[in-house]
Amino acid sequence: MEVNLTLNDDDVTFEAARSDTLLDVLRDNGYTGAKRGCDTGNCGFCTVTVDGDPVKSCIRPAGQLDGADVETIENLGTQDDLSPVQSAFVDNAALQCGFCIPGMIMRSKALLEENPDPDEAEIRDALSENLCRCTGYEKIIDAVQDASARMTGESDVAADGGRVPADAACSGCDCLDGGDGE
Ligand code: FES
Ligand code: FES
Repeated sequence: MEVNLTLNDDDVTFEAARSDTLLDVLRDNGYTGAKRGCDTGNCGFCTVTVDGDPVKSCIRPAGQLDGADVETIENLGTQDDLSPVQSAFVDNAALQCGFCIPGMIMRSKALLEENPDPDEAEIRDALSENLCRCTGYEKIIDAVQDASARMTGESDVAADGGRVPADAACSGCDCLDGGDGE
């Protein structure tokens, strides 16, 4: 069967078997950012958004997606220009093996779009369906709080998308704007 959807702002048509899930279709077509962990809806590694809501793509039948608006981690920043959530995860050392991180970031992004200034309990609740075997979660919570601060303008963001240290001694040069420091 054919599945017509909007994927990362592009209209696409994918061939899918009746038994295929959204994760099958994504990964079969080169969108490998969403990871296959448990494949049973329990780990959250495969999280993407569908019509703005976080969804575990391993249990969403592809046949239900005609006309849907799907976003994957591939639609966020690039290596040289990370999105605020991505750069907050990097700057807070909120990843180790990284396997859970695409799902964590997509769910965090969805949270921050709905609730730009969540408290810790709200972050923990939102991420409760996404597991991480490495980090102990504390740094992930820090990263989401940091991303919130960047996105709401409470903290500065350097030209490379990273955080400007609170104690940065700036002498008026252009280093934080991507200049050569002169
Ligand atoms: S791979 Fe989808 S929830 Fe685990
Ligand atoms: S960083 Fe390894 S599973 Fe989360």
